[in-house]
Amino acid sequence: MPTAIPLANAEIRRLDAAFGAEVVGIDLAAPLSSEAFAALHDALRRHHFVCVRDQRLTEEQQIDLSARFGPLETFPERHKTRAGPTFYNVANVAPDGSLMSPSDPRLVAQKLNELWHTDSSYRFIPSYCSLLYAIEALPDAAADGETEFANMFLAYDALPEAMKRRIEPLQMVHDYAYDYRLFPDLPPLEPVVREAFPPASHPLVRVHPDRDGRRSLFITANTGREIAGLALDAGRALHAELVAHVSRSEFRLRHRWRTGDLMIWDNRCLLHRARAYDTSRYRRVARRTTVAGSAPVRGPFAGA
Ligand code: OGA
Ligand code: MN
Repeated sequence: MPTAIPLANAEIRRLDAAFGAEVVGIDLAAPLSSEAFAALHDALRRHHFVCVRDQRLTEEQQIDLSARFGPLETFPERHKTRAGPTFYNVANVAPDGSLMSPSDPRLVAQKLNELWHTDSSYRFIPSYCSLLYAIEALPDAAADGETEFANMFLAYDALPEAMKRRIEPLQMVHDYAYDYRLFPDLPPLEPVVREAFPPASHPLVRVHPDRDGRRSLFITANTGREIAGLALDAGRALHAELVAHVSRSEFRLRHRWRTGDLMIWDNRCLLHRARAYDTSRYRRVARRTTVAGSAPVRGPFAGA
């Protein structure tokens, strides 16, 4: 049953997947009462992915709404931002309106989004949630190009008990520079970025702060393959096994954007990735704001 939220005619509906919801009948460009914002925030907590349909948001309105979830991250990389460092640009269209060439570093850098990840896992405190506003969605004729999400609570629960025990004390090393080793054609990492983001290790088993200690699996494919404390080969083998595990379809939601979608997801329990599309033929434009996390990733032994 749809849950009414305290704003005229708005509805939250579950998506036809293991998680996720859409919200219709709300205008986020209009002033949002604290009750309505609380309802939206609660929907994110319950569904992990919330798509608010049919929005028209200026940059300022997106920033104002995002900042109600918490302080925003800034991105020092120049080629990834638009209109200041709070936006992360997801687009194959240059500011002059032309399609970017496939070798354009701004587009090559977005290839990394095709690997399972959470936003900013390379930071000492990774992101809480992201808000991605679809300015130009792909036309129906375009194949692929969706964003996929995978639920890491479900992925953890489905692991064999022996694997749960094995990974309990382990951490993955998340290194921003790994991206650049995967795609040697990218220009060298800017010194400001290298200094801002040294490698960070996070527990493979993540304890969600809002969920009475509910556990999720925390593994990403765009920031490295190394497991702290394991020999390189053993770490890489474990990493590959876990990435294959999270890719199972029963944990997954595939979302095809519509223009005007505001997609909000909880980076603390979902992975996501882009599905490749024909960038030389179709336009796809969105801008992302990213809400900072409030504490380092909590593992099973925090406070012990
Ligand atoms: C992002 C991202 C995926 C996509 O914006 O953080 O990973 O489908 N986008 O473009
Ligand atoms: Mn992302």
